[in-house]
Amino acid sequence: MNRLGYALIGAGKPNIATSCHLPAAMQIPQWDVVLLMDVDLGVRTYAERCKVEWTNDFQEVLRRDDVHVVDICSPDWLHAEQVMMALEAGKHVICEKPLALSVASARMLADTAARLDRKLQIVTNYRYQYKWQQIKETIRTGKIGTPKMLRYSLQGRFFPYDAGSFYRKAESGGQFIHNGVHYMDLIGWLLDSEPETVSGRTLAHYPGEDRMETDNYMISQIRMRNGSLAVCELNMTMMEPEGFPTRERLSIVGDKGVIDFDNAKSSLVSFTGHGLRMQALTHDDSVAAYTSLFREYAESIVGASPQAVSADFSLRIFEACVGTILSAKTGKTIRLPIGGPDDKVWKA
Ligand SMILES: NC(=O)c1ccc[n+]([C@@H]2O[C@H](COP(=O)([O-])OP(=O)(O)OC[C@H]3O[C@@H](n4cnc5c(N)ncnc54)[C@H](O)[C@@H]3O)[C@@H](O)[C@H]2O)c1
Repeated sequence: MNRLGYALIGAGKPNIATSCHLPAAMQIPQWDVVLLMDVDLGVRTYAERCKVEWTNDFQEVLRRDDVHVVDICSPDWLHAEQVMMALEAGKHVICEKPLALSVASARMLADTAARLDRKLQIVTNYRYQYKWQQIKETIRTGKIGTPKMLRYSLQGRFFPYDAGSFYRKAESGGQFIHNGVHYMDLIGWLLDSEPETVSGRTLAHYPGEDRMETDNYMISQIRMRNGSLAVCELNMTMMEPEGFPTRERLSIVGDKGVIDFDNAKSSLVSFTGHGLRMQALTHDDSVAAYTSLFREYAESIVGASPQAVSADFSLRIFEACVGTILSAKTGKTIRLPIGGPDDKVWKA
């Protein structure tokens, strides 16, 4: 099969589906965007704009023989159920992060995809962004030798969630589950390995009334299978003053050089045996990152190439995030894969 029919779920409002997934999907040569779905009637406007069909009924997506790929951009708590239904209906599935809200459920989805021979792709758009691609390329070409240690930190406010938003509640798992998967995926990819053990600590520090039920400072120490070590820090305690800019920093120490990135300076610095290199890294490529991801994914279905990011790798990344919170709650280092129940994560 050389052409694939594509359906987008959650395309009824100005959101990640309509701002990034839809324009990216329209650019994939092997895909025909055939159907947009949302429970919100706004889906009709987006469908008419692109001259494609629309529906408010998820079951219609599953029934349609001309839909081969279902791209799920509904809120986090719906992912697991919708992914399972789409896989069982014989569809290939792309799912926004996180794949599920528990490791047991995520594992069941990855196993189901493998059993039914369907391609399950969890969205890992960050690694396709220009700045991370440049950093990966610096490593790939051997300029800093073998990476031994990585430190990533993000500091700022948490996202502007409405009062009562699911993402403020304990059952969301908190920011290390909802967003930590992005950074953990970058760490695994840049260090070219899977997390083996994680050790986490978290803290709640809310200077005012605006708070979530979950902690807003999270730090994870990650030992990778290849022996390298990483630290991932999400510091969302900088609530005041309002408008405090988000700061993102990354350093990687290799046996021949060092990479240093700081978004306040918008530059990548690499110190190597050949001297100092500085490169500007400002570039708005939010749609382009999805286009690259979708193109590789489409090729893995219609061509012979393997999926660039396997469901198994994304499962291990998710486990590292869940394991970090479990570790913070139990005070123990967590060895992956997580064998026992992971339900402590969802208790405030
Ligand atoms: N990868 C990234 O960079 C990135 C960025 C933002 C959001 N996300 C993820 O994308 C997902 C959507 O986030 P968002 O910010 O666009 O959320 P959103 O709430 O703005 O949009 C979700 C859409 O899903 C629709 N919806 C609700 N119930 C539905 C149902 N039963 N069936 C179909 N559609 C339904 C809503 O009407 C809405 O249009 C989340 O899982 C989030 O974690 C990822």
